[in-house]
Amino acid sequence: MASIGQVIFWGMIILIFLVGGLIILIFCIAFTRTQTAFVESRDASPVGNIGDDVMLDCSFHTSGAGGEPANAVSVTWEKAGLSGVVFRYRDRAAQLEDQNPQFRDRAKIFPSVVATGNVSLLLRNVGPRDAGVYRCSVTAPSGRGSDSVNLRVAAYSSPRFTLLEKSLSAEAQRWYPKPNVTWTDHVGHALNASSHFFNNSAGIFRIVTTLLDPVRNDDTYTCVVCNNLVSSVSQATVTERGVMARTYFTFNLAPTLMPLHLAFTTPLHLWAYCLLT
Ligand SMILES: *[C@@H]1O[C@H](CO)[C@@H](O)[C@H](O)[C@H]1NC(C)=O
Ligand SMILES: *[C@@H]1O[C@H](CO)[C@@H](O)[C@H](O)[C@H]1NC(C)=O
Ligand SMILES: *[C@@H]1O[C@H](CO)[C@@H](O)[C@H](O)[C@H]1NC(C)=O
Ligand SMILES: *[C@@H]1O[C@H](CO)[C@@H](O)[C@H](O)[C@H]1NC(C)=O
Repeated sequence: MASIGQVIFWGMIILIFLVGGLIILIFCIAFTRTQTAFVESRDASPVGNIGDDVMLDCSFHTSGAGGEPANAVSVTWEKAGLSGVVFRYRDRAAQLEDQNPQFRDRAKIFPSVVATGNVSLLLRNVGPRDAGVYRCSVTAPSGRGSDSVNLRVAAYSSPRFTLLEKSLSAEAQRWYPKPNVTWTDHVGHALNASSHFFNNSAGIFRIVTTLLDPVRNDDTYTCVVCNNLVSSVSQATVTERGVMARTYFTFNLAPTLMPLHLAFTTPLHLWAYCLLT
């Protein structure tokens, strides 16, 4: 017959195993909850500038430090509403038999970094019809999954400032969709300006805008050109020798992309204007 001591001893052992098991279970649940998706885009809503290249970000979690064997990774990029693929990579090669003709010779991934989990797509010479939702799907030894990237397409360029007889003008060559133009003085009061928009055959707008009142030396004037996707804020200082201007671009609906220095130097009321309209 077991002594009281033995019963307590074995009772403690069982209790320790039960509590230990419970703790491990809790850790497992917490871990699977916080574990990030296998495939992920860190920039889910980029804005492409018409005529430029744009990177659609996508990566997957590799197992171990050595990465994945690249020949065992297959990647498919597709676009919602389009037949065929945008790009497919399998067995260390592009597989483009069923590539949609819209992307012929314009899409690529970077084979040298696939093993490290980078399966971002470079799309060259972006045009308005490239806008839409893309899906990046990955199959690898360590897992499979997909994520989507919503590409928005715009055209944007910095305005150039000219001063003629105390009259300040700005001209920006390429904007799409058609933007709004506003001017403010150094304390943020709205100024009257006359703005003209000229569209070319591709629907891209050239903008010419002129302040109606004469400007003063050593004053700074702010010109904001913005549409629903892109905002450009230019600060132009009038000096004896001409106009000194600097321009910042920011992209709406993607606030995490805004560099910190921009968040601090961009007058907030101008941001409010663009985000609200
Ligand atoms: C993926 O690789 C490309 C080409 O080397 C690079 O331009 C891009 O920044 C990389 N993306 C990430 C998230 O590292
Ligand atoms: C802008 O022009 C309108 C009329 O053209 C005028 O009534 C208004 O006072 C002007 N505003 C400023 C800020 O100069
Ligand atoms: C350019 O603007 C005119 C009207 O000003 C419009 O009729 C025409 O459709 C526009 N062209 C493009 C390509 O948007
Ligand atoms: C431009 O301004 C008009 C009127 O102020 C507003 O209705 C419109 O939404 C604005 N558009 C953009 C893109 O900010």
